[in-house]
This record gives sequence, structure tokens and C-alpha cells, in this order.
Amino acid sequence: MNKRKLLFNALGSVMLLASCGGNVTSENREMDRFVSELMGKMTIEEKIGQLCQCSGGFATGPNNTKIDRTEDISKGLLGSMLNVSGAANTRKYQEAAMKSRLQIPLIFGLDVIHGFRTGFPLPLAEAASFDLDAIERSARCSAREAAAAGLHWTFAPMVDIGWDARWGRVMEGAGEDPYYGAKVAKARVHGLQGDDLSDESTIMACIKHFAGYGAPIAGKDYNSVDMSMGHFANFYMPPYKAGAEAGAATFMSAFNDFNNEPCTGSEFLLRYLLKDKWGFKGFVVSDWGSVGEMINHRYAADEKEAALKGITAGLDMEMVSECYSKNLKALVEEGKVDEKLVDDAVRRILEQKYKLGLFEDPFKYCNEEREKSVIGSKQSREDACYVAERSIVLLKNDKNILPLSKDVKRISLVGALAKSQKDMCGAWSCADVSKVVTLYDAMCERGYNVDYVEGYNLENNKIVDLNRTLSSARNSDVVIVAMGERAWQSGEMRSKGDISIAEEQQKLVSELVKTGKPVVVLMMCGRPVIFNEVRKNAPAILCTWWLSSEAGNAICNVLWGDYNPSGKLPMTFPQHNGQIPLNYQYKSTGRPTANGGWCAKYIDIPTEPAYPFGYGLSYTTFEYSDLKVNDSVNGDVYANVSVNVKNTGKYKGEEVVQLYVRDEVASVTRPIKELKGFEKISLEPGESKTVTFDITDEQLGFYNNNMDYVVEKGDFTFMVGTNSKDVQSIKYTLK
Ligand code: GLC
Repeated sequence: MNKRKLLFNALGSVMLLASCGGNVTSENREMDRFVSELMGKMTIEEKIGQLCQCSGGFATGPNNTKIDRTEDISKGLLGSMLNVSGAANTRKYQEAAMKSRLQIPLIFGLDVIHGFRTGFPLPLAEAASFDLDAIERSARCSAREAAAAGLHWTFAPMVDIGWDARWGRVMEGAGEDPYYGAKVAKARVHGLQGDDLSDESTIMACIKHFAGYGAPIAGKDYNSVDMSMGHFANFYMPPYKAGAEAGAATFMSAFNDFNNEPCTGSEFLLRYLLKDKWGFKGFVVSDWGSVGEMINHRYAADEKEAALKGITAGLDMEMVSECYSKNLKALVEEGKVDEKLVDDAVRRILEQKYKLGLFEDPFKYCNEEREKSVIGSKQSREDACYVAERSIVLLKNDKNILPLSKDVKRISLVGALAKSQKDMCGAWSCADVSKVVTLYDAMCERGYNVDYVEGYNLENNKIVDLNRTLSSARNSDVVIVAMGERAWQSGEMRSKGDISIAEEQQKLVSELVKTGKPVVVLMMCGRPVIFNEVRKNAPAILCTWWLSSEAGNAICNVLWGDYNPSGKLPMTFPQHNGQIPLNYQYKSTGRPTANGGWCAKYIDIPTEPAYPFGYGLSYTTFEYSDLKVNDSVNGDVYANVSVNVKNTGKYKGEEVVQLYVRDEVASVTRPIKELKGFEKISLEPGESKTVTFDITDEQLGFYNNNMDYVVEKGDFTFMVGTNSKDVQSIKYTLK
């Protein structure tokens, strides 16, 4: 073992003894007394039972243990179930748990990733809103509906930073930027957990996948992750840390290895960084089967060694694989595992059950009446439409084709996706598909004269009946094309080597443009996609992602200007697969691309993206002026940066004013710019507003190679603008 490992081990046991520290309030004291008393009665078998979670329904991974665990539950040998929902269903299992000797309630978890029965836009789509209140509102609604359906816990938010659009799970996160990802993580945790987990409308959050899962080599899901600690600290760590600071009740260990150790067995990640350095008091659940998968990693010889490595590392609850239930007792009896490690894990889990109020009333979330009134409510639908509108990104609007006039007579609606309820939901959906409003539904509901044509085959993307499609277009006032990838072409185990949109779909758009009619393209996707032919030929393009239950209404509200689109891309859109991973926070290198000549570039493809991070247009225009830096003397604010923004168009609109910072010279190589502030403002036509950003340690600091957060004196450049490329700059020196 290297020195550091020994240090962590020492830390581990020292930390265990001190683990009941922290802010000891009267509630904590009462909880501590209750949990200690309960643990004093528990047998080793009952303790280990609390560390085990099985799937009660469908599988979201391989090797599901299908056996009915009701008997184990009634013996107190199971602590949690996943993939069971519904007040009646969870009540049934909870009743079994109440037959056990100590009547310790089960907790039920489910992947409520973007809405429950009322579906919300994909998390990546919501991130495009750059509206933290809207994002929190979405999480709040998800929690409200999930809690009404007997759930206590969602395996969300997924906070993994994604630079690689080939990785299908970018759809679940908040994009490529760590500063923004950290803000979104906090908003989602608070939306889900509120201020009181015992409230019947809140559920436990789960920060996942710890850590670095978003950076699999070559964008291939589950692949190894290999990065320096300095790179991890600056570009991947912030959202996890923010989730812990936000008080997330749980974390989930990732499938991948990190620094040559499977995350699920990484003492550095789970015990040292998360529990000791960050003071995390919740519990860590493994990802599906990942304790047992340490054997596949060839990090454990068998399930017994996997159990030893998991519990030693600080992995508290094992999802689905059964290494703990089969081996932990023997490991304790053989003296290979200190029972204190088991006790620490049990305590963490029991404390969350206590905070949920389940010891007072194990059935408080199993109320079928509340389930009926909360799920699919008008409030939920309004929330979903509100957030969906704000997730749409306007990429192009030549000749101001948009917004459409409400007097438009004939619409040619092209594309099978315009009618696909299932595709609107995206991956990881819990939505009631039958209640999804498609684009076609919404247009008809608004009384528009819509001539729908399939345009392309949804299965193979081949053009269908081109003449019929072109004649529909020629007989219309405007052509609207719903196109893109399929909903389940992004998500888990959906990595792609080629993120291009089908050639035939793009060719169809070119043919439609040739008719001379105004063509509006709706790009539906769960990740950045490549569509260069459409990008060049189509006069108007909206990125509508997968918006779920209120998709049709939100898209129509934007098309007809009831809502002026305000979204900004949370991930860079490449123009060639060969550019990936591609993000805006690249480093200068010793031969900057900008210098030309002998520089960092390709000889066969461009280096510029199709659309940069933070990019998004509006139906109106904004002018930035009067950029200033004001040296400040107050406390921890070094200075502030102010800029005037004016709405110079004819529509009311919202603008996400973005602040980027460059540390000109530092003790480690730093990116050419980093997002360090944003503010979404609303301006009437002609109205202007001064936006001010405070410059503190948060804006100027970074992690050095010892993973210390430092701020160094010297020159900085502040950049303010409407996206990561179109910015105005000003110099600043920190003395
Ligand atoms: C899946 C996912 C994880 C999810 C878990 C339970 O494989 O990796 O994000 O929460 O298993 O469904």
C-alpha cells in the first residue's frame, strides 16, 4: 500500500470514531439516540440486511435477482428496493417489513430523472434554460409526484460533466461546464429534498455517478476513466462537491474505474474525499451490480473480496448484486472487516430513514388518495410546459421567419417524430406516454390547418413518398420539419461513434428548401448532434431536444412567439465526429490554434464547433455596451464587472448574460476561458439593464496539483457576452 493509502486507512478508522460529530443539534441528538438504541438491538444479520437493495420490478442493468424477496423483507434482511412504485405496491412490501422483529421500514428508490408521470424535458434540455429556478421547479414537481407514488428516493441528479457527445448519457446531465453543473446540482438537490425530508412532497436525492463517469475513454459507456487529479479537481469534481454541500442524502458510486480503482471500491473517493474531506453524512449506494462487477474489473477475485473492498472503501448499500448479504457476516466473524465499518454504513442508512419520518409512520408515502390528486395535476402540466418552453434553443432564424404569424393559413407538417408520443419522452422516462402532447396534437388543438406528411420512415430514416411531401410543402405557407435521432439513441449504453443526423432526413430538408417555401426545422435529440447540411440550408432551426409531456404545447408556444426562446447550449455542438471530445474550455497549448502555422489543428476537418457552448438566439436582439471593471474593497469581493445590455429588437425577450474568466498566467495550465457567472434577464423592446458580476475567490481560483483551491495574484481577462465565443473583454490585475 502506498503512503497515501495508509494515511487514508488511518484516516478511515480515526474518522469512524469521530463520525458522529458534526453540528449536534437537538434533532440530531434525538436522531442519534434513536438510531443508537435501535442499532444496539440489531443482530449482525439485520445490520447487513440494511446494506442490501434489490430490484422489485424491471431491471435497469444485467443479472437482476428476480427472486421474490418478501420473506427476506419480513425477516429484516433487506433495507431497500428499487424499481417499485405506486402507493399500493410499496405499501405491500412495507407491510412485509413491518412483520420483521425490529420493524425497520424499507426505502424505495427509482430513477426519476426528468419528471415522474408528468414528464419534463431531459436534464440536458433543462440545463439549456440557464434558469435555475425553472430547474428547481422541475425537480420539485418530480419529487411531489414521486413521493405521492410511495417513493422516498430518486437516483438523481446525475451531475457527471460531459465533454464527449458520443457518450449517450450526456442527456442526463447539465452539460460540459463544471461551474454551471455545480449550480444545477444544487438547484436539483434543493428541488427534490426541499428543506425537510419528512415532508410528504420531498424525496432523497442521489448525486451520481461518483466519480468521473462522464469521461469514459472514447465516449464508450462504462469504459475506463483516466485523468490527472488536477484535471478531475477543476473540470469534473465541482458538481459532486456542490451536491454534497447542498445536503444530498445519498451518492451513487460509478461503474467505471477512476485512478486505477473501481469507484465502488475506491477508498480515496468514498471515504477520504466524500466522507472525510467533504464531511458527507449521508450514504453511498453502488450503481447497479457494481460491487459484484469489481470481479469483472479484475480488482476482486470473488464476491467475498468484492464485499471486503466495498465496505472498506465506504460503499454503504449494495444495489442488486449480493456480495454483502452472502459474505459480510463471515468477513466480520473472521476479523477481516471491523464491525465498526458495518455499523457506520448502517447508521448512515438508518439516519436517512429517520429523516424521512418513516420510523414514525412507515406508510406516510403510501397514500393512494394523495397519489390520485397529485399525479398529472394541472400544476404539474403547467410546470412541465413552463420548463419545456425555456429549454428550447433557437439556433438560426434567417429572414426572421420565426415567430410564425397566428394567421398562417396552411402548415405542412413533415416528419413522423411530430406524432411520436414515445419519442417525446426521451430515455430514462417515467412519463405516462398516453398523456404526452405531440407537436401534431398541439397544432390541431390550436385550430391550425395542418397537412401532416410522414416525410421519412421512423425506423430507417429513409425518405417516404418525396413527391407527396414536396406537394404538401408547395401548397403551404410554411413547412415545419420535425427531425432528429430517436429518443432511445441517447441514454445508458447508447454511445455512438457517429452523432450525425441521418443523411436522408437532411436531404429531405434540402429538397423542401428548394420549394422556396419558408422551412422551420425542429431538431429533436438527447445530445449534441451533427447536421451540417441542414445547418447550412434551413433558414430557421430550433433545438427542441426531448421535452416530454408538454412537448407539443411548448414548441407551439415558441413557434408562434407566445414564448420568445431563451435557451443556450449547455454543450458544444461539433461539426465533425473527429473533433470529439470538443468543449469550450480547451487550453492554449504551446502552439495555440489561434496562432495558425505550426498549431493545434487538423489537416482534414475544421477545429471550430458548429455551435459554441452558451449559444442561443432570440426573436429579438441584444446589444452589450459599457463593459467596466470596478475595483472593490469590500471583504471577499475583489472587484465587480458590469455591462449594459439593451433589447434592440421588437420583441420582449430574455438574455443569458455570461461572464467568462481567463487567468492569464498561473502555476498550472489553465483553460482559455471558464464560465464564472451568468444572469438571465428579461427586457422589453428598447429596455436596457446593467448586469453586475462580483469577482470573488469563486471566479478567480482553481485547484492546483495538490488539489488545494488557490487564488493567485496576477493578470486576468474578464469576458462578457451572449455565448462563449461572442464576448467583449476587459483586463484586470489582482494585486
Ligand atoms: C443504472 C444506472 C444508474 C441507475 C441505476 C438504477 O444502470 O447506471 O444511473 O440509477 O442503474 O436504475
